[in-house]
Amino acid sequence: MTFRPGLRESATFDRNVVHEIQRAADTGIYDIRGWGAKRKVPHFDDLLFLGSSMSRYPLEGYREKCETDVVLGDRHAKYPLHLDIPVTIAGMSFGALSGGAKDALGRGASEVGTSTTTGDGGMTPEERGQSKYLVYQYLPSRYGMNPDDLRKADAIEIVLGQGAKPGGGGMLLGQKITERVAGMRTLPVGIDQRSACRHPDWTGPDDLAIKIIELREITGWEKPIYVKVGATRTYYDVKLAVKAGADVIVVDGMQGGTAATQDVFIEHVGIPTLAAIPQAVQALQEMGMHRTSGGVQLIVSGGIRSGADVAKAMALGADAVAIGTAALIALGDNDPKYEAEYAKLGSAAGFYDDFQDGKDPAGITTQDPELQRNFDPIEGGRRLANYLRVLTMEAQTIARACGKSHLRNLEPQDLVALTIESAAMARVPLAGTEWIPGRAF
Ligand SMILES: Cc1cc2nc3c(=O)[nH]c(=O)nc-3n(C[C@H](O)[C@H](O)[C@H](O)COP(=O)(O)O)c2cc1C
Repeated sequence: MTFRPGLRESATFDRNVVHEIQRAADTGIYDIRGWGAKRKVPHFDDLLFLGSSMSRYPLEGYREKCETDVVLGDRHAKYPLHLDIPVTIAGMSFGALSGGAKDALGRGASEVGTSTTTGDGGMTPEERGQSKYLVYQYLPSRYGMNPDDLRKADAIEIVLGQGAKPGGGGMLLGQKITERVAGMRTLPVGIDQRSACRHPDWTGPDDLAIKIIELREITGWEKPIYVKVGATRTYYDVKLAVKAGADVIVVDGMQGGTAATQDVFIEHVGIPTLAAIPQAVQALQEMGMHRTSGGVQLIVSGGIRSGADVAKAMALGADAVAIGTAALIALGDNDPKYEAEYAKLGSAAGFYDDFQDGKDPAGITTQDPELQRNFDPIEGGRRLANYLRVLTMEAQTIARACGKSHLRNLEPQDLVALTIESAAMARVPLAGTEWIPGRAF
């Protein structure tokens, strides 16, 4: 559409809304896509660090250390994870992603001493082989669930929900269900798969406690048990998960990525990552579990892109973060070198989100053997490791400027907010004031 003076776009019915109504009317099908929420909601960009001046003393970047390591799961597990950096790779399914992409995620994460995570559809040998620390997801669908793989994992993540679709199940459309994917999920080839939105084994927190014990028994009490929730009623969910025995809680905000779900779900269900973190931290603090030895660690995900985001999440109280979308981009997803191919799919580099179609020219969100040839797992792993190093160095730069010798020492007092909304959600003062909306002084 070309802009011409005199044309006024409606704020309510803007060009995307008009296009969506036309598309819906043409097809009678709701829009399914990958990626996370695209509309603007309060986020880490709405926060700033104060840095040091007279009242706080900074650390010298070239001489003084700022540590980055984190221990996950020392509440009950015999072997907690000791990661070198607090940025982990989020669970993304084999099926949604190609085998090569899973391999590359393992390579990149291992190179910098962090963990990667399986997903719906089970554990591939490539992924296990390349990952120094591999977290095995136990999902409502149970697709690919295998007790032997549970024992091969370094930690287990029980998935109750995802930020992109809390209350909803996953989707993998038939075009991506090849023989290998179908075999691992014990499903027919080429038929759309919609996974369950809730676990068949339990209907509430009491049953979850029994399931956690069962998983610990199967794996000899060796492995940390994570519980992942999509951010909704986060304060209560975290309390219930801790009570049920979780070692680590993963809170995934509404901006969190997905391989495929309804657009209306991605954009309209759940709360922003920024709003979820303080609720989770409050719940952990009230239970005496926050940032204490033998406590419960908090991993936060949903829209983490830069070292500033990592530092902000940690200042608000996260022990570590997880990344999905950004990791795929680092591997080579949406690379401008495929501009012509994206155009043929009606998209463009930087906008491509039709992960469900399985036509990804970058060979990452596809099962097509031809397209997969475009992706080199070794190069992808190298790129991911580079990106993870940059995130870590950026977070360290900020932490040093705040006078912190460890990333975990960042605190809410290092932050201010740019808007009243973000101040209220993040529970930090509006910049230039002492005012935290909603808090009585
Ligand atoms: C391609 C793709 C596949 C995903 N598959 C799963 C999955 O199988 N299980 C799961 O719990 N989350 C899945 N997720 C969500 C991620 O684990 C994570 O919560 C989310 O990507 C974090 O937000 P971010 O993408 O903004 O970093 C997937 C995300 C993407 C982008």
